[in-house]
Amino acid sequence: MNSDIQQIIEEIKERNDIVQVISSYIQVKSAGSNYKASCPFHTEKTPSFTISPQKQMYKCFGCGEGGDVIKFVMKMENLDFLEALKLLGEKVGIEIPQGEINEEVRENISKNQRLYEMHLVAARYFFHALLANKRKGYQYLIDRGLDEKTIKYFGLGYALNNWEDLTKYLVTKGYEEEELVQGGLILQKKNKKGYIDRFVNRIMFPIFDVRGKVIGFGGRVLDDSLPKYLNSPENPIFNKRCNLYGLNFARKYIEDETLIVVEGYMDAIGLFQFGIKNVVASLGTALTKEQGKLIKRYAKRVIMAYDSDEAGTKATLRGMNVLKELGIEVKILNLNDAKDPDEYIRNKGVEVFKDSLEKSVPLIQFKIDNLRKEYNLDVAEENVNFTKRVSKLLKEIKSPIELEYYIHKVSKESGISINAIGSEVYGKYYNPRQFKNNIAKKIEKIKIEKNGAEIAEKQVMKLFLTYKELRSLILLKLDIDDFLLAENREILNYIIKSKDLDIITIDNLKNINIDEGIINELFNINIEHIDVNIALEDMVKTLKRNSLKHKIDALLKEQSMLEKKKQDKNIDASEVERKLLNIGIKIMEKQKMLNDIL
Ligand code: CTP
Ligand code: MN
Repeated sequence: MNSDIQQIIEEIKERNDIVQVISSYIQVKSAGSNYKASCPFHTEKTPSFTISPQKQMYKCFGCGEGGDVIKFVMKMENLDFLEALKLLGEKVGIEIPQGEINEEVRENISKNQRLYEMHLVAARYFFHALLANKRKGYQYLIDRGLDEKTIKYFGLGYALNNWEDLTKYLVTKGYEEEELVQGGLILQKKNKKGYIDRFVNRIMFPIFDVRGKVIGFGGRVLDDSLPKYLNSPENPIFNKRCNLYGLNFARKYIEDETLIVVEGYMDAIGLFQFGIKNVVASLGTALTKEQGKLIKRYAKRVIMAYDSDEAGTKATLRGMNVLKELGIEVKILNLNDAKDPDEYIRNKGVEVFKDSLEKSVPLIQFKIDNLRKEYNLDVAEENVNFTKRVSKLLKEIKSPIELEYYIHKVSKESGISINAIGSEVYGKYYNPRQFKNNIAKKIEKIKIEKNGAEIAEKQVMKLFLTYKELRSLILLKLDIDDFLLAENREILNYIIKSKDLDIITIDNLKNINIDEGIINELFNINIEHIDVNIALEDMVKTLKRNSLKHKIDALLKEQSMLEKKKQDKNIDASEVERKLLNIGIKIMEKQKMLNDIL
């Protein structure tokens, strides 16, 4: 549907807390983490009407009525969807743009509402069918190692072995066959006489959107027959390209801004059961750009954990490119010999799995590792061919430091000289010493201008002390560690902690244990002739520049220390190289930031 409208609906729902709205109509009482009331939709003696603030839903266990805040207002005020939306919108000051709501949109909204509802009804039906008779479907899932808690969490279900089961049920619930066909839940028979269920004798995986609404299903056979999975067809609420299975759950468990992407339903659910919960499934396809953008809303890093077969590997590569283009950092999990993550974690256990997650490698490493499998490096000719093909791969690397790292690495592995590999990669004779000199030259340029920076730092301090209204602006532009004098950092920390200090006097500052001379000097700095707005900008730049230079300086020292360490035979060179790579990248980053300021 029109996504702007969708967003408006979401916002209106978000701002209208369901407990508050319902309590403005009826009396509600808190009961644990929920709220209870006497159901306004049927007469009852003991309250069975429950409101969940977490889910922002209500449900009456007496009459079965339930839904979200909009549905409640619709029922209470006898309004249609759009009218209820308007009413709730007015309460929180959100206007529904006139132009957006033409007849067509109005119709779509209510149609989509029906689609969402029928999916929820169907999901509940499948769920009950699975749990009511704990035979076929249930047993299948237990045999595959799922426990009941997980089954319930993911709302798994079972479509009975009967061609008209769901059709009949949904018709008694008031749905027209045509709309059920449109939702993809049932099919018209070939002879056009009657309808049949789409899903028969299958384990049902409800597919949720990010907000947790059921928008489709995947159905798996219980044996080896084909097709193994049958999925809902695309419809106005289900667009495969734009959804990731499990994101509604995983988004609450993002760790280290990282999301794990797997291929299948069972992979996502399996990992989740083992406590690895920041996981989504791309549903058997290579990742789309839309899915990438969705990921970007929740995570900065992705670990791809696709099946280890050829199809999975290809899909991994395609997916990675999509993610990289969106600026997401991607690594790849090595499944070793397992066919998919589900099998891997079941066979090896969660500790081994976590260890592998830690060790997941960047794309280029993954490609090299894959390539290596094709060659026997003990045979000279194969070794040469392997190295040539790797060199070709290395051409893709954009960062010179990363490139250096891999050239070294491949040289060590193949025994072919760094010069030879470098020349192959660069396409001309390559001399690594020359490369190093270039970097050294660049760095020479950034000598530290001690005096200028110190003066600027003191002036900024003085501004900070004098003008309360400048303090947050200064802290926005500078980090505490951009100030190089330890005394200044201490003063700043002190003032930040006692943030109600309007006027700072010498006496205030004497509470801090620093040299009085320094404090007096700060107070004596003359800033009267300064136009604060112009000068501050310059001072901030000077400080930033200077602090970056110091940081680069420290990194360079660390780098040369590690270079020396590398010569030591007793040390794990690959570990040192990894550190060197990281430092190299940090230096490049800082240098770039520095260039941006200059
Ligand atoms: N898939 C599909 N249609 C198929 C086969 C696969 O839509 N005919 C999708 C499903 O989303 C499935 C994913 O691709 O989850 C990965 O396929 P596969 O590895 O075969 O499935 P698994 O999830 O590993 O399922 P299982 O462990 O039950 O075999
Ligand atoms: Mn699989």
